[in-house]
Amino acid sequence: MTRETRPKASVDSPKMADKPAKSAQPSRRDFLGTSAVLSAAVASGLAAPHVSVAANKSDKRVINIALVGCGGRGGGAVNNSMTVNDNVRLVAMADLFPEKCTRLLKGLKERHPDKVAVQEDKIFTGLDAYEKVLAEPSVDLVLFATPPGFRPYHIAAAVKAGKHVFAEKPTCVDPAGYRVCLAAHDQAVKNGTAIVTGTQYRRQINYVEAVKRIHDGMIGDIVSATTRYCSGGIWYRKRKPEMSDTEYQLYNWMHFVWLSGDQITEQAVHNIDAINWVMGSPPVSAYGCGGRFTRPEDSEMWDNIELDYEYSGNRILSFMCRQIPGTKGDNGNVIYGTKGIAMIHAANGGSVITDRDGNEIWSMKGRIQDAYGQEHKDLVDSIVAGTPIVELRATADSSLTAVMGRMAAYTGQKVTWEFATSKSKLDLFPKDLTWAGKRPKPAFAVPGVTKLI
Ligand SMILES: NC(=O)c1ccc[n+]([C@@H]2O[C@H](COP(=O)([O-])OP(=O)(O)OC[C@H]3O[C@@H](n4cnc5c(N)ncnc54)[C@H](O)[C@@H]3O)[C@@H](O)[C@H]2O)c1
Repeated sequence: MTRETRPKASVDSPKMADKPAKSAQPSRRDFLGTSAVLSAAVASGLAAPHVSVAANKSDKRVINIALVGCGGRGGGAVNNSMTVNDNVRLVAMADLFPEKCTRLLKGLKERHPDKVAVQEDKIFTGLDAYEKVLAEPSVDLVLFATPPGFRPYHIAAAVKAGKHVFAEKPTCVDPAGYRVCLAAHDQAVKNGTAIVTGTQYRRQINYVEAVKRIHDGMIGDIVSATTRYCSGGIWYRKRKPEMSDTEYQLYNWMHFVWLSGDQITEQAVHNIDAINWVMGSPPVSAYGCGGRFTRPEDSEMWDNIELDYEYSGNRILSFMCRQIPGTKGDNGNVIYGTKGIAMIHAANGGSVITDRDGNEIWSMKGRIQDAYGQEHKDLVDSIVAGTPIVELRATADSSLTAVMGRMAAYTGQKVTWEFATSKSKLDLFPKDLTWAGKRPKPAFAVPGVTKLI
């Protein structure tokens, strides 16, 4: 990648505690400007469904929010929503641990005193906390930012309860969860309730405009693409002696495949989603490899995965993700066409399109922080307007594309989209999950030994 972006921290780590610099706060003008561009992209049917965005006025219907999963992104998401929407109130919170709720609540009250209305008896904790939130009649919209293993089941329950949903990515970590997402998507459409997902690049102006130009033919026919999410590592939370197996795995969730889906699903889904968007559909197959060299002993995660994804029309995506300390980072997408090359860099790296000789023909900057706000603005506006956005299917497709790649790498087999969607029986969610319960000893995949199921 010629103009690589090396994020200092992972894109996936905006924390509520990390107050964005004043200049990084999305302004009303930014949103209006972005909206005009996004509307054009939606008209082409290529971007996420999008409702025309006028700045929220405080006389609009108030939308009562609940947050499930009060960690780094949960705090970030609710802060994003409160920053861009005048007409939202946080009324309930849920997490496994009470201190996660109370700590976050304190920060939110300081930052958005008029938008926090959480009574003490509306803070729920434990594995069934989400059910208590869903039983609250005052809650209109639920934001889900737990580890992704829970996501399909939480979304499905929320849709059944008639709530609007914001679901962080990825939305599933296995084919069983994918099918639950598809059913929830269809049910939400029938209900008339919204589901917006945390694939923020679909709303980042330099992504939207680059993809529009690719689809309009600026680089000619797409021949192939490269995408990479390579970084210097990810967090690991050490087990405390008093923890049960379940408590430990939930605490250190990134390292257990049933909870995170491994880095390809948990993190690189952003890049896979961008390429599915560019290509116009998920790929037909995946084949590749990877390995595990530096992870702590009980981590199920691999250090790296490299794949060829084949898209319709023999278009190949060369994919790489890596989390190894001391290695060179790279996070972005390059799309090669018969007439030009598009580089779409992650985070705040911007987009550039050149001709085949490398002469720049178009470029645009964009800020990820704006996109984090735009998804919440679109969501709330669509609810208030009575035209709820339902975009779970596209994000579930991208999540399963990542899962299909993981299955190919873990087993050493070629895996087709047809197998992943229709035939695979892989279902990682434990049927017997209890707080004090035992979990099977962590085990990592070995190609040639790990079976394709
Ligand atoms: N869109 C993005 O750029 C972006 C960025 C960061 C994280 N994420 C996604 O957000 C999600 C959360 O990530 P994070 O970094 O905030 O993790 P985190 O560990 O900081 O927070 C997760 C929180 O969920 C709670 N939790 C776990 N299981 C729960 C359950 N069953 N019910 C209620 N609460 C539960 C945990 O106690 C914790 O407080 C992940 O899916 C991650 O991929 C997205």
